[in-house]
Amino acid sequence: MIQTNFLIIGSGVAGLTFAVKIAEQFPNKKVTIVTKANENESNTKYAQGGIAIVTDKLEDSYQKHIEDTIICGDGLCDEAVVEMVITEGPKRLKELIEWGAKFDKNNQGTLDLGKEGGHSENRVVHHKDQTGQEIQRAILTQVHRKENISVLDYHLALDLITENNRCLGAYVLDQKTNEVLTFQSDFTLLATGGIGHIYGHTTNPVIATGDGIAMAHRANASIKEMEFIQFHPTALYDSRTGTSFLISEAVRGFGAHLRTKNGHQFMLDYDPRGDLASRDIVSQCIDLELKKSGEECVYLDCTHLDLEPFVKHFPMIYNHCKNLGIDIAKDWIPVVPAQHYLCGGIEVDKTGRTSVENLFACGECSRTGLHGANRLASNSLLEALVYSDKIYHFLAENPFENKPLESKVTDWKISQKPKINPDYVSNRKAELQLLMRQNAGIVRNDIDLLKAKETLVDWQKEIKNTIENHQVNAELYELHNMITIGLLIVQMSIDRNFNRGGFVKLRIEN
Ligand code: FAD
Ligand code: SIN
Repeated sequence: MIQTNFLIIGSGVAGLTFAVKIAEQFPNKKVTIVTKANENESNTKYAQGGIAIVTDKLEDSYQKHIEDTIICGDGLCDEAVVEMVITEGPKRLKELIEWGAKFDKNNQGTLDLGKEGGHSENRVVHHKDQTGQEIQRAILTQVHRKENISVLDYHLALDLITENNRCLGAYVLDQKTNEVLTFQSDFTLLATGGIGHIYGHTTNPVIATGDGIAMAHRANASIKEMEFIQFHPTALYDSRTGTSFLISEAVRGFGAHLRTKNGHQFMLDYDPRGDLASRDIVSQCIDLELKKSGEECVYLDCTHLDLEPFVKHFPMIYNHCKNLGIDIAKDWIPVVPAQHYLCGGIEVDKTGRTSVENLFACGECSRTGLHGANRLASNSLLEALVYSDKIYHFLAENPFENKPLESKVTDWKISQKPKINPDYVSNRKAELQLLMRQNAGIVRNDIDLLKAKETLVDWQKEIKNTIENHQVNAELYELHNMITIGLLIVQMSIDRNFNRGGFVKLRIEN
C-alpha cells in the first residue's frame, strides 16, 4: 500500500500542470504522477498548431474568440464555461512563458499568431509546428524541480478504488515488475487523454486508449457526449500505417488549398469560408468527395506558397513529407480525415470535480462544456491549462483536514492464473478498430450502430471473463477499456436524435 496525498494519472499538459501547482502550494504533501509509458509520451507531445489565445487586442477580442468557439460547437457549448476559459488564456500563457516555454515571434518582436479552421482572426500562439513538445518540455522541467513530486513511468492505472461514491485511490500495474500497487490518496486526478486507438486510424499516439474514461465509468462517474468524435481533415494519407501523421490545420491557415485529384478546390462548393471552415465541416466534405469519386484521398496544395517561411514555420511537416518523397514545393500532399479528438468524456463542473467525491478530471478525458458538438482548433491545450489551474485553486482554497489517511483500502488480490495469449488481444483490437471505423465513423446510421452495439456487448462479456481468468496484463486492460469506450460512443450515438457539429447520423429506412 502506497500513500500519497495527490495521485495524478497521466503526464500530458493536464496532469503535469496540476502537479507543479499543487506541489508548490503544499510543499509538505506528497504528489505522485503515474503514467503508462515514458513520462513525455502523450497526445500533448504531438500538438502542432498551438494554443488559441487572444493576445492582440487591436485586431482580436475575447468576444470574437468566444463567438468562434460557440459557432464551432454548433449550439451545444456551455457559454459560461466558454467565457471563463477564453478570458483566462493570457494568464495561463504568461505562466507557461515564466516556466520557460518558448513561442515564435514575428519581425516586430511580438508573438507570431497562426490561423486555423473556424477562427475569425490570427490568434494561435505556437512553437514552430512542435508546440506540444515545447510545452511538455517546459512543464516537465518544473516537475523535476519539485522535491515532493514523484513520477512513476511505465505504471498503468487499472482501476479506481471507490467506496460510497468516494474515490480512495487506484490500483496501478508496475509494468517493469508486473506487480499491482495499491495507491491510497486524498485526491485523485484523471488526466489520461484521448481515445484515438479505438479507431486505429488516428493522429493520436498508442497511449490513447480511453483508460481514464473507462475507469471513471466503472466507478459510476457521469460520462457525457461521447458521440462527439472529432475527425481531423488532413492526416497524411499512408495506406501502410495505422497512426496517421498530422498535417496541421495551420498549413491551411498559411494559405494551402484542398483539391480533388483533378485539381478542383472543392471546399468553396460547400462553405463560404472555403478551406478554413471548421474541421467537422471540412472532414464531412472530404468524406462526401471521396464517396463521390471513389478515390482514397484528397490533396493539400502548398506549391504556390513561399518555401522559406513555410519551412521556418513547419519544419517537422516539411521534413516528414520530404522523407516520404513528397516535395511540398512541387507535389500535393495526399490527405484523409482521421480520428483526432474526443469532445465528450468525464463530466466535470467548473472546478474540475467529477460526480465522484475526491475524483477530478482534466484535459481531453474530461467533458467541461467548452467544445459542445465540435472543438475549435487549438482550444484543447487552452482548456487543459485553465482547468488544471481551476482544480488547483479549488483544492488550495478548500484545504483538506490534516488527518492521516483512513485505511479502508484493500490490496489487490494476487492469484496464480495463466498468461493471456497476445494474439487474442491483438486480433480483437484490430476487429474493434475496424468495427468502429465502419460503424461509428464520420457519418453513422442506426442500423450499423445497433449491429456494432450487439457485437460490443458480446465482447464486453467475453473480456470481463477473460480478465478474471488470466494474469493481469496491460494490453488486456487497455482492450477492456477500448471496448467500454466503443460501447459508450455507440450507445450515445444511438441515443442522439439530431445532427450537430461533428455528429452526423443518416436516417436509413429498414
Ligand atoms: P495527454 O497529453 O494525451 O496525456 C495523457 C497521459 O495519460 C499520457 O501521459 C498517457 O500515457 C497517460 N495515461 C493514459 N492512460 C493511462 C493509464 N491507464 N495509466 C497511467 N497513465 C495513463 N490541441 C491544441 O489545443 N492545439 C494543437 O495544436 C493540437 N494539436 C494536436 C496534434 C496532434 C497530432 C494530436 C494528437 C492532438 C493535438 N491537439 C492539439 C490535442 C491536444 O494535444 C490534446 O487534446 C491534449 O494535449 C491532451 O492533453 P491531456 O493532458 O489531457 O492528455
Ligand atoms: C492542428 O495543428 O491542426 C491541430 C490543432 C488542434 O487539434 O487543435
